[in-house]
Amino acid sequence: MPETPLFLAAETIHARVHALAADLDRGGSESMHLVGVLKGAVMFLADLARAMTTPVTIDFITMSTYEGVQQAGPPRLLHDVRIPLHGRDVILVEDIVDSGRTLRFLQEHLGARSPQRLRTVTLLDKPSRRVVDAAADYIGFSIPDRFVIGYGLDFEERYRHLPYITELAAEEPQRGV
Ligand code: IMP
Ligand code: MG
Repeated sequence: MPETPLFLAAETIHARVHALAADLDRGGSESMHLVGVLKGAVMFLADLARAMTTPVTIDFITMSTYEGVQQAGPPRLLHDVRIPLHGRDVILVEDIVDSGRTLRFLQEHLGARSPQRLRTVTLLDKPSRRVVDAAADYIGFSIPDRFVIGYGLDFEERYRHLPYITELAAEEPQRGV
């Protein structure tokens, strides 16, 4: 019998994003600088920024993305941040940590720009997939090894608009992933 597909309803995501925002607010900085990883983290960052009471500034960085369900080679930087990080309380905002390669790269890349502090928040984490040692400071949901879509996450650029998160296999059962 097939297992029940992983499903995070819009209300479940909303509640968790508000809890993460409260955790960040407790950090106590006067302002924080959110750096979102395009394109997957765009919905998460938009909701997180509005749920926080700490004033924030926002920037984005673009990394090479998955082709289908497989990562095509090592992570590559496609577009860097615009605002200098020097002296800022930086929060790296990720959609999902899988092998950890992208997170490791970004933590080193941003950490080298002398931020006052650098923390990472990720909406999703797949700890069983880790290849390199990399950890987020704040995690929305820890999930099993399934390819998920929705709320910013895509498969071949589709499904980002879904207000919920589900398995690709639930939307495209013929793919059997
Ligand atoms: P990593 O470098 O292997 O940790 O991959 C991280 C990136 O791969 C994420 O920021 C996503 O863009 C993408 N990714 C990993 N797993 C999934 C998934 O289940 N659905 C959609 N994108 C994913
Ligand atoms: Mg991503």
